[in-house]
Amino acid sequence: MSRLNGKIAVITGGNSGIGLASAIRFAAEGAQVIIVGRRQEQLNAALQQIGHDAIAIQADISSLDDLDRVYAEVKATKGRIDVLFANAGLGDFQPLGAITEESFDRTFGTNVKGTLFTVQKALPLMSTGGSVILTGSTTGTMGTPAFSVYSATKAALRNFARSWALDLKGTGIRVNVISPGPISTPGLDLALAPTGQAEAIVDGMVAQLPVGRIGQPEDVAAAALFLASDESSFMTGSEMFVDGGFAQV
Ligand SMILES: NC(=O)c1ccc[n+]([C@@H]2O[C@H](COP(=O)([O-])OP(=O)(O)OC[C@H]3O[C@@H](n4cnc5c(N)ncnc54)[C@H](OP(=O)(O)O)[C@@H]3O)[C@@H](O)[C@H]2O)c1
Repeated sequence: MSRLNGKIAVITGGNSGIGLASAIRFAAEGAQVIIVGRRQEQLNAALQQIGHDAIAIQADISSLDDLDRVYAEVKATKGRIDVLFANAGLGDFQPLGAITEESFDRTFGTNVKGTLFTVQKALPLMSTGGSVILTGSTTGTMGTPAFSVYSATKAALRNFARSWALDLKGTGIRVNVISPGPISTPGLDLALAPTGQAEAIVDGMVAQLPVGRIGQPEDVAAAALFLASDESSFMTGSEMFVDGGFAQV
């Protein structure tokens, strides 16, 4: 249980769902974990679950000032970053014809702008051999009814990884995308709730999944651990699907 021994790992969205499961796993594997999220209460609760002297920094990744504050604190307390899991993200179910400007701005502001500056502002602290992981989604390569804006943000992240792998050539920093299929998290519940058909939609997705079950946050954490560790040192610009086969068949 020491695949990340001595590594400093920053995880955005580390207070819930996939990010929290990854924080727990990374810390158990020897990493010093810093989680980032907007809700202080959830950050406090997450620290209890993660243990291992993890640190929480309250911040909104769509705010560049907040990100400056995050990295100033990381620099002061840890001095460097070995693993950056840019995982925070959100989305609304709105079909074409009912997409609001407010939802578009929030979704692109968080998932695209927020992820871009989460990574760009971390670069001065990233160590040689560092690993950047972006959370994409199967929706980035599939059509999903009423989810086009969110899906477009995840397609954007897929290209960020391809292009940034080239921008980072020679730095020793790798960047990869982890793309979950449907994963049982508070975020999925929140996104589906306004549809009034959450259970039917999840049942429909499970019916299409070759593995026959919805994913758990720990399924994604296990793959993120691989991308975070030196075992994936020959991977950059890649997309790793953790989707029960959803987008593969
Ligand atoms: N669950 C799925 O089926 C699924 C599938 C594919 C991809 N994903 C992706 O997986 C990632 C994690 O989602 P999840 O399912 O684990 O949902 P979740 O439980 O809602 O976690 C989302 C996390 O992102 C944080 N966050 C959201 N906006 C933020 C902002 N502006 N600044 C800082 N933190 C922010 C949230 O914390 P605060 O609210 O406290 O800020 C929360 O910790 C997302 O990128 C999501 O798009 C999920």
